[in-house]
Amino acid sequence: MKSDFISTVSHELRTPLTSIKGYIATLLHPATKFDGATQRDFLQIMNREADRLSGLISDLLEVSKIESQKFRMNPSLQDLMIIVRKMVEKYRQLHQKHSFELTGPDCLELEIDGAQIEYVLHHLLSNAVKYSPKGGKIEVQVQPVDEKIYVSVRDQGVGIPFDEQEKIFDRFYRVDNRPTRWAYGWGLGLFIVRKVVEAHGGRIWVESVLGGGSRFTRTLSSQNSMDTLQKKGLG
Ligand SMILES: Nc1ncnc2c1ncn2[C@@H]1O[C@H](COP(=O)(O)OP(=O)(O)OP(=O)(O)O)[C@@H](O)[C@H]1O
Ligand SMILES: [Mg+2]
Repeated sequence: MKSDFISTVSHELRTPLTSIKGYIATLLHPATKFDGATQRDFLQIMNREADRLSGLISDLLEVSKIESQKFRMNPSLQDLMIIVRKMVEKYRQLHQKHSFELTGPDCLELEIDGAQIEYVLHHLLSNAVKYSPKGGKIEVQVQPVDEKIYVSVRDQGVGIPFDEQEKIFDRFYRVDNRPTRWAYGWGLGLFIVRKVVEAHGGRIWVESVLGGGSRFTRTLSSQNSMDTLQKKGLG
């Protein structure tokens, strides 16, 4: 398992590096001259690949923190809706091809780790956008029911085959089908998301129809008081 992990990571690190090295070698080749615009194109590709490498390294560090039990939450009393509204607004500004809808209460104060809540939402929204390349509606819903709060992100994208809906939460698992092969990613996002949600004492699952969109729902306990988190060793 460990050596599998190392070989997967090495492979994933090598792919963007090979591309960066390729462009550098091309630019440095003494026999070829490129105009300013082409050089800029090459530099932009190299910049994007470097960003991907740095994204992968951040995700790997997150995975290593989670797996070494050094993962700590920093809960404080916060309005969940402020965080959710901020994230939805950010995505609305960045992705004009999609329309974003948010439903939920005006305000919902809870003991939460704001940064971790943002991470999960950001990740679910980024998947919703990435896997609905034709655009469409993305609905975010916050629904308090009894002792729980349900937070869901629903898209109208490519969907996930039924027999892979559990596997997508595994480390490095990506669905290999035509509509998603072009989409860039490591298959680490949902693995980290599930760990973070569980550390908050919640659950996350997906409902999806191939070709008919997906809905990811996470739960949060409305009794997320400092007390309960400390009893779980997470405070
Ligand atoms: N909203 C979605 N619609 C359709 N497929 C999805 C959706 N979210 C996730 N998936 C599938 O689950 C797989 C795992 O998702 P995950 O977020 O863990 O990794 P990723 O997006 O491929 O890469 P990254 O590590 O950059 O997040 C994806 O590769 C994709 O096949
Ligand atoms: Mg992802």
